[in-house]
Amino acid sequence: MKENENELVDLDEEGNIKEENKKEKKIKKKNYTFAIMVSLIFIVIIICASNLIIRQFKKSNQIVLIIADDYDEMSKKAADIIADLIKKNPNAVLGLATGSTPIGTYDELIKKYRNKEISFKDVTTFNLDEYIGLDKNHPQSYYTYMNEHLFKHIDINLSNTHIPKGEGDTKLNVQNFENLLNKNKINLQILGVGSNGHIGFNEPGTDFGIGVHDVELHNKTINDNARFFENDIKKVPKKAITMGIKNILDAETIILMASGTKKADAIKNLMDNKVDINIPVTVLNIHKGKVYVIIDKKAASKL
Ligand code: GLP
Repeated sequence: MKENENELVDLDEEGNIKEENKKEKKIKKKNYTFAIMVSLIFIVIIICASNLIIRQFKKSNQIVLIIADDYDEMSKKAADIIADLIKKNPNAVLGLATGSTPIGTYDELIKKYRNKEISFKDVTTFNLDEYIGLDKNHPQSYYTYMNEHLFKHIDINLSNTHIPKGEGDTKLNVQNFENLLNKNKINLQILGVGSNGHIGFNEPGTDFGIGVHDVELHNKTINDNARFFENDIKKVPKKAITMGIKNILDAETIILMASGTKKADAIKNLMDNKVDINIPVTVLNIHKGKVYVIIDKKAASKL
């Protein structure tokens, strides 16, 4: 007998380790490797499964999907949620969006104000974005849009409304708007979505971590928005200032609205629980608060 690597092994007459011992050791080694591999596979399976469970859990907690029959019903549902918040918290801070999608919601809110159901007297608002280089009073500036579609019809104090400035020193405008947002928590952010998945003017590829910034608009967005500029691409501003995705994610609650088949792909990507920097709207899957996705049947057609 001889001690070999802390084990007692049998020796033959010439003092060599017996063949059986060598075999036994080989088998033991194999068994070890096998056990380690099985445990590793098991650990990987557990990690994947728990990730899946967490994602499902997060999704069911965060996203409330409401499919409305049409644009009007979508607008009413969104307006009801916004009005409920204002009733509970008259000092609510709202994040507002532009585009054709929220117009019906603003109309419903105006009706509720006229019916004395809600007052905007103490409400504060922050808009998502503004074109750069467009006169503030241009018919297609978001400043004009907000006045025409909401502000001039309600009792909001205009000094409580904030829209990024698209004229003058862009760097300064970006900094000022970021500072304002840092001082105010948005309770409810309203969002539309571009056909390429952009939110605000955060185009595909935008880093999810950045705040207010200026941006070169993608051709798709310029083409989509040409309808507001007499279908003349040359008239559409090529740059904008926008809240970043970081600012949008800071909002407590988000309402995303979408109407029409052009939005169906973006909505499908969101509801598939993807999180993809090239489809900005999918970032809502990692928002910590509640997200209402209120869409009409056409936008839901790919679900
Ligand atoms: C613009 C706005 C977005 C808006 C999007 C969709 O690009 N910056 O905030 O969500 O258009 O617009 P629409 O609602 O007209 O389809």
